[in-house]
Amino acid sequence: MTAAILDLRPAALPGIVPRKGAASDLLRLLALDQRPAGRRRLVCHWRREADGRLACVWKPEIEPPRRIGTRLNWASTDKPRRRRCNLSLPSAKGRAGAALPEQSGRGKMPKRRFASRPMPRPGPPPRDFALEVYFSRWQHAARHHLTASDSETLTLAELLALGHPEDRAAFAHLALGYGDPRGAERLRRAIAALYGETGAEQVLCFSGAQEAIHTAMHALLGPDDHALIILPNYQSTETIPAGLCAVSGIALDPARAWTLDIDAVARALRANTRLVAINFPNNPTGKILERDRFDALVALCRRRGVWLFSDEVYRLIERDAALRLPAAVDVYERGISLGGLSKSFGLPGLRIGWIACRDGALLRRMERIKHYLSICNAAPCEMLAAIALEAGERILARNRRIASENIALLRDFFDGHGELFHWYMPDGGVVGFPRYAGADGVESFCARLIERHGVLLLPASLYRSELAPIPADRFRIGFGRSDLAAALDAFRAALSEIPLCL
Ligand SMILES: Cc1ncc(COP(=O)(O)O)c(C=O)c1O
Repeated sequence: MTAAILDLRPAALPGIVPRKGAASDLLRLLALDQRPAGRRRLVCHWRREADGRLACVWKPEIEPPRRIGTRLNWASTDKPRRRRCNLSLPSAKGRAGAALPEQSGRGKMPKRRFASRPMPRPGPPPRDFALEVYFSRWQHAARHHLTASDSETLTLAELLALGHPEDRAAFAHLALGYGDPRGAERLRRAIAALYGETGAEQVLCFSGAQEAIHTAMHALLGPDDHALIILPNYQSTETIPAGLCAVSGIALDPARAWTLDIDAVARALRANTRLVAINFPNNPTGKILERDRFDALVALCRRRGVWLFSDEVYRLIERDAALRLPAAVDVYERGISLGGLSKSFGLPGLRIGWIACRDGALLRRMERIKHYLSICNAAPCEMLAAIALEAGERILARNRRIASENIALLRDFFDGHGELFHWYMPDGGVVGFPRYAGADGVESFCARLIERHGVLLLPASLYRSELAPIPADRFRIGFGRSDLAAALDAFRAALSEIPLCL
């Protein structure tokens, strides 16, 4: 008797429900593919497991075969009118192999080759991206964007001026064909130069860090896995894994300068934990993990064979260079460094993100997933990104200067309103997460600020996690932009008009 388990829960097949009977067809198909020589027919039974998955149990019988095709009818629910579509299944062997529950011992990396895993089916993540929904609602109405998460940007002319004269000529004559899905060689070389031993072949480019998060999570995680997310974090780093596997979270501790309890991380690891996700400098707290704790976390991941997904989009903007953490890819063979031009470099409009990682099989798998997403980046963006990175030190020096001047302004501002706000000085990045002490609560405070005064802040609810409590009395403030002084004046003026509820 053999068994296979197929995940047919709605989360695993977003937008699709099997036509009545299709599930048993599919399971029979899997079983047929594995029938022993000489056995002509398989008798299948299927049952629903306690967690909602369907299990197929079969045994071979000597009887004439029944022909079963490889195309099944499925009904799609993603249109108001139900429509029928044909779903072609990849090799039944591959699917069945990947669907079988996996045995993974404590401390051992599951023995699973990427090639044997089914390609993921990208689908809608389980909940809306709260921050993007909020920005779509308010960003354009805001007269003072006090919560921007990026550094001051450059115009196209300013960026081109940082390039060589031949770059400017080449840019005007750039061919607009498809590019290398991995990213242009020149760009990947410029990215690799940000790391220690990493070469261009260990870098994969994406359309923004967001596409890289989506791709890496789909490449690494499946229904039998567990991911541990360190919070607060960029929402997609929690929400995308939550649509793929079991997830749990550990929050940074605001009472201890937002540090991370590594013993708590060790306790939270499970036999099937495949990935731990971190983000330092952290959005929104500005925390950079202390170096000894970071080293302990890497050592823990290494002992347990767990991938360390490190969102480093704010790296290289630290209040003090001594606080800078090493890139995960430089210190750990299963370290995945997520980088991009959106934050520290202030160029989100180029939509260039990347992953640097030493594991060739993982890079190849992510590339195959990218083929179903953006395919390749836009050639003009890649060229501008290469120019930006080659002039990177000049751009970063400017952005660090703006951030440090702004930090001084924020310190004065919060010192002047000590009864209302408690400020934690960020270690790096360009956002902070101060506490609001008003009795009306931070949500209503932020709502009044934007509705009546055009001052945009992000209330704590947008960092709500389903995995661990995030303090509900904070708001995000950004300090990467050069108009902060004017925005703070508007904030001060609003505070003088708003009746304070202490
Ligand atoms: C921590 C963090 N990671 C990733 C991203 C996504 O960046 P991108 O705009 O490059 O997709 C963001 C954007 O706000 C972020 O704050």
